[in-house]
Parts: sequence; C-alpha cells; structure tokens
Amino acid sequence: MEVKSLYIHYPHCMHLCNYCDFYKKKFDLKSNENFFKYLIKSLKPLERLLKEKSFKIGPLETIYIGGGTPSLWGEDVIKFMKFFHDYFQLEFSPAEFTMEVDPGTFSEDSIKSLIDFGVNRFSLGVQSFDREIFPVLDRSHHFDEIRKSLEFFSKLDINYSVDFMIGLPEQGKKRDIESELKKISVYGPKHMSLYILTVGESYPHKDLIPEDEVISKEYLQVHQTMKGLGFEQYEVSNYAKDGFESSHNWKYWKQNSYLALGTSATGLLVEDNGLRFKWRPDGTYTSEALTKTQLDLERLYTMSRTREGINSSMFSKEALSQLSSFEKNNYGFFDGDKFIFNENGFVILDTLIEKII
Ligand SMILES: C[S@@+](CC[C@H](N)C(=O)[O-])C[C@H]1O[C@@H](n2cnc3c(N)ncnc32)[C@H](O)[C@@H]1O
Ligand code: SF4
Repeated sequence: MEVKSLYIHYPHCMHLCNYCDFYKKKFDLKSNENFFKYLIKSLKPLERLLKEKSFKIGPLETIYIGGGTPSLWGEDVIKFMKFFHDYFQLEFSPAEFTMEVDPGTFSEDSIKSLIDFGVNRFSLGVQSFDREIFPVLDRSHHFDEIRKSLEFFSKLDINYSVDFMIGLPEQGKKRDIESELKKISVYGPKHMSLYILTVGESYPHKDLIPEDEVISKEYLQVHQTMKGLGFEQYEVSNYAKDGFESSHNWKYWKQNSYLALGTSATGLLVEDNGLRFKWRPDGTYTSEALTKTQLDLERLYTMSRTREGINSSMFSKEALSQLSSFEKNNYGFFDGDKFIFNENGFVILDTLIEKII
C-alpha cells in the first residue's frame, strides 16, 4: 500500500493567542534548530511503522504544513523537505504544497524562495478584516499587517486561502461580516476556510461568546456572501473558486492514508482496517487501531459535511425515512444514491447525523 500525503505540524508562534487550543510553543532563536532535530528523530519510528504495516511512501501528491506559525519556519522548510525526500528516496513532485502563514511573520524573500522550491499554495490567517473587531483576537501583529499580507499575495498572483472566524465575542459594535468578506475578496484569494470560535474555561472573554442563534445567523451570512462572490461551498467550513478546492482536505475527508510529523500531528494508514497515530513531544507516537465499522462511521461524519454527500444505499429503512424528512425540511436533497446536506442542514448537522445513526 502507498501513502501519498504528508501533514507537518510546526508548533511555534511569536505569541500565544488567548483563544487558541492547538499545540503550540513560544518561538525563540533555537526553535527551528530544535524542530529540525525533532523531525529527524521521528523518521526512524515512522519508517518502522510503515514497514510493520506494509506501507510505503509513494511520490507525495499533497503536503500541508500547518501550525502553529509555519511562516516562522521559513526557508528551513526547504532544508527539511530535501532531507525527507533523500531519506525515503522519493522524487519531489507534489501537485499541492500548502503552507500556513500569519500576517507579520514572514519575509517576502522567504516566501519567494519557498515558491521557487515548490510551495504552490498558502493559507493566510486573516480571521477578521475589521479594525475595531480585530483587537479582541489577541494577535501579535498589527491590523495593517493583514492588508499588507493580502496585498503581497494578491500581487504574487499565487493560489492562496484565507482563514476567517465567526462567533467572536460580542462587543459594542455589530460585526458586518458581508462587508469584511467583500473587502477580503478584492485581494483575490481562491479559497476560504471558516472557523467558529471555540474556547476553554480560561478564555478571558468567554462570557461574551454569542448565543448559538447568532452564530447560525453569521454562518448563513457567510454562506450567502461567499456564494455572491463566486465561491462554492464544498464542505461545511470550506469555500473555493472553481478548480481551487484543496486536494489535501479531500484526502482527509475521503479517508485516504496520510502521514504526519510534528508533536500532536495525527496520521492515518488505511487498508481494510485503519491505524491512527499521533506524535508526542519526545519523538515517539501513540497509535489506535480502527475497525472497518469505525472507519465507515468516521467517513459518514466527514463526507456528510461535503458537497459529495453520503451514500444512502448503506442505510436502513428507518434511516432513509429520516433522510426523506430532512429533504422535506430543506436540510438537503437526494441525488441518485447520494444524500447531500445543504447550508441549512450544515447548521445543525450533528443533530441530523445523530438521528440517522
Ligand atoms: C492552528 S491555526 C494556524 C494558523 C495561524 N497560526 C493563525 O493563527 O492564523 C488555524 C486556524 O485555526 C483557527 N483557530 C485557532 N484557534 C481557534 C479556536 N479556538 N476556535 C476556532 N478556530 C480557531 C484560526 O482561524 C486559525 O487561522
Ligand atoms: S498564531 Fe495561530 S496557532 Fe499560534 S497561538 Fe495564535 S491562533 Fe494559535
């Protein structure tokens, strides 16, 4: 069996935003050297795992470097990717190679070198494009850095995505989501990932998080605006211009095998059954075997969130009659054997899926 996708989690950030619960550490001058050593140390265990499971790495089709703030890793990405390809004796030819970048954390020259090397997609953490809303996000960069980054990627004429957040703490000012998205779209991103803020108990503004009803309204507002701007929703939280859906995302949702490296990163190897593995800070990993039934259930969850929908031929009569009632209530529709949820269904998807399970 071959695995053809790789996710790398770069854990360092200039500043630890108070709402973020991803695995991250503060960046210092030793960070990149230590990260390189960490990755190198994990290659042997990865190699052993692949051998044990009779998998080999095919030429990588998609690579995604997320974080943390991978733009702080900068050109050292190239050093590691070369090492990785030599180690596994692979040809370097990814069709999609994405790297996350934060405004204010990259040099224009390093982005150009990365493009020359083969990075062909960037994901920019915009979150909000309203100067008055922005401070609640506790970001390390100044608001103007967002505009500068958007301008930079727009001029480069490269495929890039933006991250946008809703469900932010309510402040005195009402948020104009439509206007924010329209302003962002002027800079020509081809893709947008939408996040609903989720926070822990220690979050300083937790009492100001809006009610579910407000968040649903914001979600539908995003949907209408993105549609008007020529984007298609291809998953609950992802919008793309025609031809710019993320192939790497699809690999996750369709349950293709993918490798992972970096603390907290999770990989998956799928044959008949599956194996999920997750990297620990000491360069070892934990693993969990997944039965075919578990894999099917997980795929039902991920595919129900997508434009391709779920295969209804696998359902019982009762579940099918639930799907018919969803169609009557305008939560989705049948398309041959498929049932595809729409934006109204996406808003309450967890409840709907529970009903058919
Ligand atoms: C792991 S972050 C990495 C990107 C980058 N460091 C940044 O902050 O822009 C990926 C995305 O997750 C989203 N995110 C971070 N914390 C979140 C939270 N508590 N709830 C929902 N989304 C969150 C943000 O939209 C962010 O761009
Ligand atoms: S920069 Fe991104 S990954 Fe880092 S703490 Fe902030 S939200 Fe989290």
